[in-house]
Amino acid sequence: MCVFAVRVFLGILLCAPYQCLECPFGCECFAVTRTVKCVSEDLLTVPQSIPGYARTVIITGNNIHQIGPDSFAELENVTNIILSNNRITELASHSFSALTNLRFLDLSGNRLALIHPEALSIPGGPLQELNLSRSLYNSSALTDLTTALRWGGLRGLLRLDLSGNHLGFLPPGMFSHLPNLQQLFLINNSLVEVYSGTFSGMNHLQVLDLTHNAFRTFSADALQELGKLGNIRILLGENPYTCSCEIRSFVAWLNGSRAWIDVDAVRCDSPGGLSDTRLRGLGVQAIGCVVPVQAEVADLTLQTSYVFLGLVLGFVGMIFLFVLYLNRNGMKKWIIEMRDACRDVLEGYHYRYEIDSDPRLGADLTNCNPQTHSEFYNRTL
Ligand SMILES: *[C@@H]1O[C@H](CO)[C@@H](O)[C@H](O)[C@H]1NC(C)=O
Ligand SMILES: *[C@@H]1O[C@H](CO)[C@@H](O)[C@H](O)[C@H]1NC(C)=O
Ligand SMILES: *[C@@H]1O[C@H](CO)[C@@H](O)[C@H](O)[C@H]1NC(C)=O
Ligand SMILES: *[C@@H]1O[C@H](CO)[C@@H](O)[C@H](O)[C@H]1NC(C)=O
Ligand SMILES: *[C@@H]1O[C@H](CO)[C@@H](O)[C@H](O)[C@H]1NC(C)=O
Repeated sequence: MCVFAVRVFLGILLCAPYQCLECPFGCECFAVTRTVKCVSEDLLTVPQSIPGYARTVIITGNNIHQIGPDSFAELENVTNIILSNNRITELASHSFSALTNLRFLDLSGNRLALIHPEALSIPGGPLQELNLSRSLYNSSALTDLTTALRWGGLRGLLRLDLSGNHLGFLPPGMFSHLPNLQQLFLINNSLVEVYSGTFSGMNHLQVLDLTHNAFRTFSADALQELGKLGNIRILLGENPYTCSCEIRSFVAWLNGSRAWIDVDAVRCDSPGGLSDTRLRGLGVQAIGCVVPVQAEVADLTLQTSYVFLGLVLGFVGMIFLFVLYLNRNGMKKWIIEMRDACRDVLEGYHYRYEIDSDPRLGADLTNCNPQTHSEFYNRTL
């Protein structure tokens, strides 16, 4: 009772009575900053009778399952609505269409499973920023959202955050009805590929953030699609890039791209030898594109060693022949001596054969040694 009295007293003191008394149950209303806050009050629905002066409405940490056309009555002054972490599962048709000046809508941290095709449509398309990070519950929600972006008349949307939604793919042309989008955040999803048409129709994009996804490389189609975006800021860091030869065209693209890319964060995740190496500037040999050429090189070294061996053998042979040539006189003499000796032995043998038989002769005959034979001569004669 006392607390209530103090509150009423303070309320009367700090703001005009008609404003303070209008503040809905479970909320705090700040007339000076034109803000209404309903934080962690276990509210089951969006509170009614939000004061008309409100520009910013913050309703977070509650238990609101559904947002519908009756959730927000005509609140022409509201420009910002934060509805994060309310366990919202359903956005019905025309949920925000009474908020004709709504520019900023934060629906992050919810569990959206059902999004009506016209859930986001507001006459005049005033919305400039939509935060749907960690808010899509399953793949039906992605399909629903794609339709809602198409039918929402969001021609004025400048910023879209779809981070942390486990997105494995993006339907082609998903953003093609957001012609003025300038910043697209797709951080911390499970994207593995960009297809041609993924970013079609976005002619004013300035920032594309694809960090913390599951990209291992970018195909030629993907690089063409990214190239079409022009010289914008593209964030590609913190992806598990596999630095094998298939990443060659991506490296070449990084080498030559004039877009503003976070090249310092674009690093190899595997193979181990290259992990944490910057992709830009990687040589084609470093990423193993020259494996067949390396085999040829090995072949070539083998051939070279054979050629070398042949050369060495040839050289040794030539030296041998040269030595023989230098000694030709000595050789000649030796050969003549040898021949003479053998002739003598044979003559002796003939003689022995005719005259008598001496068993010692057989042994001496095999060895045509001139000295031995002179001995033999001396003996026999
Ligand atoms: C919006 O704010 C203006 C100026 O403060 C005020 O005159 C008008 O009544 C407000 N609109 C509503 C619906 O309360
Ligand atoms: C969207 O909301 C999340 C959490 O509520 C916040 O971290 C993120 O910065 C917001 N996105 C933008 C683009 O401001
Ligand atoms: C997504 O969740 C909703 C609500 O739980 C369910 O009705 C729907 O069938 C789910 N969709 C898929 C593809 O699992
Ligand atoms: C990515 O999202 C998961 C759950 O969706 C969360 O646990 C994780 O902290 C997020 N990581 C980053 C870097 O934001
Ligand atoms: C990238 O550039 C570096 C030098 O800046 C070059 O050595 C390398 O071969 C290039 N990589 C590719 C795949 O073109």
